Amino acid sequence: MNRVYLGIQKKALCGSFLAVFLSFPAFSQERPVSEKAPLLLGEIAPLSPALEDVSFHADFSSLPDFSQGVSAPIPALIPVVSPKDAQERKEKDLFPSKRNENPPLAKKTDGAAAKAGIFSLKRKKPKIDFDGAQTPASQQGDLEAWVSQEEGVALKRMFLNISPAGEAKGAVAASPSRENPDYWYHWVRDAGLTMNAVATLYQHERNHSRKRLYLKMMKDYARFSRANQLAPTLSGIGEPKFNMDGTPFNGPWGRPQDDGPAIRAIALIRFAKTLVSEGQWGLARKLYDGKLPTSSVIKTDLEYVSHFWRQTSYDLWEEVKGHHFYTQMLQRKALLSGAELARMMKDPGAADFYEQQAELLKPEIERHWNEKKGIIVQTLDQDAGLNYKKSGMDSGVVLAILQGAFEDGFFSALDDRALSTVVKMAEVFKNLYPINRRADAPGIGIGRYPEDRYFGGNPWVISTNTFGQFYLRLAEAYAAQGFISISDRNLAFFQSLDFPGKENLRPGLKIENSNPLFEQILAALRQEGNRYLETVRRYANPDGSMSEQIDKETGAMISARDLTWNYVSFLREACEGRACLLNLFPKKPKNP
Ligand code: NOJ
Ligand code: NOJ
Repeated sequence: MNRVYLGIQKKALCGSFLAVFLSFPAFSQERPVSEKAPLLLGEIAPLSPALEDVSFHADFSSLPDFSQGVSAPIPALIPVVSPKDAQERKEKDLFPSKRNENPPLAKKTDGAAAKAGIFSLKRKKPKIDFDGAQTPASQQGDLEAWVSQEEGVALKRMFLNISPAGEAKGAVAASPSRENPDYWYHWVRDAGLTMNAVATLYQHERNHSRKRLYLKMMKDYARFSRANQLAPTLSGIGEPKFNMDGTPFNGPWGRPQDDGPAIRAIALIRFAKTLVSEGQWGLARKLYDGKLPTSSVIKTDLEYVSHFWRQTSYDLWEEVKGHHFYTQMLQRKALLSGAELARMMKDPGAADFYEQQAELLKPEIERHWNEKKGIIVQTLDQDAGLNYKKSGMDSGVVLAILQGAFEDGFFSALDDRALSTVVKMAEVFKNLYPINRRADAPGIGIGRYPEDRYFGGNPWVISTNTFGQFYLRLAEAYAAQGFISISDRNLAFFQSLDFPGKENLRPGLKIENSNPLFEQILAALRQEGNRYLETVRRYANPDGSMSEQIDKETGAMISARDLTWNYVSFLREACEGRACLLNLFPKKPKNP
């Protein structure tokens, strides 16, 4: 089937309430408006079936080098085989039977990861077909064992969506699902979170061939991202998603989404800092050139974030335009970690400026705390988008705390406003979904926000993982801090946990780690965190694959299958809650 690579209309997922914003941010030093006239990628090579086996296509190595100016022409990206066909073939190889049948996996992929020996997808056929009621074999037994097994599954399936066959190198598909919903796009947010995980892998990997593989993935991603920045899109740098061949997606959508550039910067800054620590200054300079106007990918995003954080944009769920806690937390983190990089790269003026802007963001972020409701409200100053999000509750706030907190402790997991928000939300979601009310429910499935209507409004894997991670992270943070302080704001949170004597807690109480109660509370936090993981385990497919949502009535996996972000959220969980992502390959010798 011929897809059209003109960067024009593809089926829009969202309702018509999403306006198309034709105004570009006045980010014109970098991208003069004249450059934004639609590029004519007109001459499309006919997609020849004879070339079936040539699964590659748009070669991003022919893109302008970072050191070339912004005016360097972007070559037309012309696939020679329908990417859809190529990827479907690849998936057929990997997953021979139908989508939800959880086939035995035997073959290796043809991707770069396979070459580096990361893939060997061998798993046994599940003993019982999951029907949402019975507990299949893989969902029984030791949680710890499941987590380490699932980690491997998550990693492999995440890699499958990075630079998939038939698409541009560096593109990250949100999910292989092509319809209902069509997620075969490079979402800047999803991709940034994914590549932040890859940057973490790169940072800690000692095996040479894997390290080279991650390096390649990061370079491809950086190049693809730079091309995204230069592409003539409808909203400029805040453009939320791109076609998998790198051309702009110009259908109606909620744009701009200003968390995107911040997340993209965070991932690439992590990578650049690692390069600097390894003495790879040349490559680091390509990522951050310290010039104005800049032609480098990180500085372009930092300039955008530092100049445009005041404007409203669409939220991480792409539905509401306003000022969002999630977006602002990630903007602040991008600016602060960007300032550190700028200093390393001898750009102290910019470092000061980014820090200044991060400081100005603080009171804006504080505004989201609503003392009366006892929650951090996700969105303020809404000026467009859907109108039925009344409660202000949103699991994106918890995602923000885990992804966006900087080392300075501002709105970290320890903040009692975070605790208050989490316990109130858990209560609401517990009562909202039928599967949470079942007698045998292992824990609570968490949704995006209570009023959600997308696919009927269900628990999401990323939100549930995030809640689990929150409790586990909190236990670590208290252990490091050495005491727990009970306050008016966090009392209800602690009383929601399961440990003896909780009814005796009073605001003002300080529980030192010498007090036996301290360990009991940590144990209760870990137990609560594990209940969220148990929930995900309970509803994941027996082969460990996970779709975007969990049907609130039946517990079946629904919406986009193999959502890349699911796997990343699982790895983050594994990594930062349990510190095991970093030890993924512990048995490998150093410098083999
Ligand atoms: C697609 C968006 O990604 C999703 O977040 C939203 O709920 C639906 N469109 C419906 O508007
Ligand atoms: C819908 C989600 O709401 C949004 O956050 C995400 O970026 C897209 N799906 C793609 O996964």
